[in-house]
Amino acid sequence: MRGLAAGNWKMNGTGADLAEVEALLAAHPSPACDVLICPPATLLSRMVATGIAVGGQDCHANPSGAHTGDISAQMLAEAGATYVILGHSERRADHHETDAQVAEKVKAAQEAGLTAIVCVGEMEADRDAGRTLDVIGAQIDGSLPDGATDIVVAYEPVWAIGTGRTPTLEQIAEVHAFLRDRLAPRFGDQVRLLYGGSVKPANAAEIFALPNVNGALVGGASLKASDFGAIIAALT
Ligand code: 13P
Repeated sequence: MRGLAAGNWKMNGTGADLAEVEALLAAHPSPACDVLICPPATLLSRMVATGIAVGGQDCHANPSGAHTGDISAQMLAEAGATYVILGHSERRADHHETDAQVAEKVKAAQEAGLTAIVCVGEMEADRDAGRTLDVIGAQIDGSLPDGATDIVVAYEPVWAIGTGRTPTLEQIAEVHAFLRDRLAPRFGDQVRLLYGGSVKPANAAEIFALPNVNGALVGGASLKASDFGAIIAALT
């Protein structure tokens, strides 16, 4: 399965940062994996013009309407996006998004022709209480609508995001094997499973070597061409 290195710029990036994308493309003209950046919506069109694949960071479940500040999947697609991140833990926390709402957004993304990157992950208290797989199982079941086809799933432990901490390799492998099994009845082994949470050049290769890890969803390290480039190079 071809790997996917996806950068999530979150609420970071202005026009000046497009130079990082140009530098990335110059240094990695034909990577061995798919490369994607999900910038803030303000940069979507300009980033598309660089030639890199781009995605949104969220979308509304409706195609249009009175939803101030929101963006629809169709709008993302029209701007040139081919993917959209859905159910990121920061959306689940900051905007109280539920699994059912994420599932509605996944439907909207599919209708607009976007590949949904559906995020799941446990809080530190869940892991400490031995509930990791229960939490992730419920999230994945609840966040994927009937009829979902074109999806990527990202495992992002909430406590590993932006903290510099990562699970052990055994813990990552355990969750990815669990997700692979859980998805198998509906999707076979065709869904790309990404790991996210403090992925850096220094730890990327060992994470990518794990079974059932098909790439990464990278936050902070995706903002710098040199760091993201090293992560891309590690995903062969
Ligand atoms: P960091 O790589 O900055 O930990 O962020 C991970 C993330 O949330 C990607 O969606």
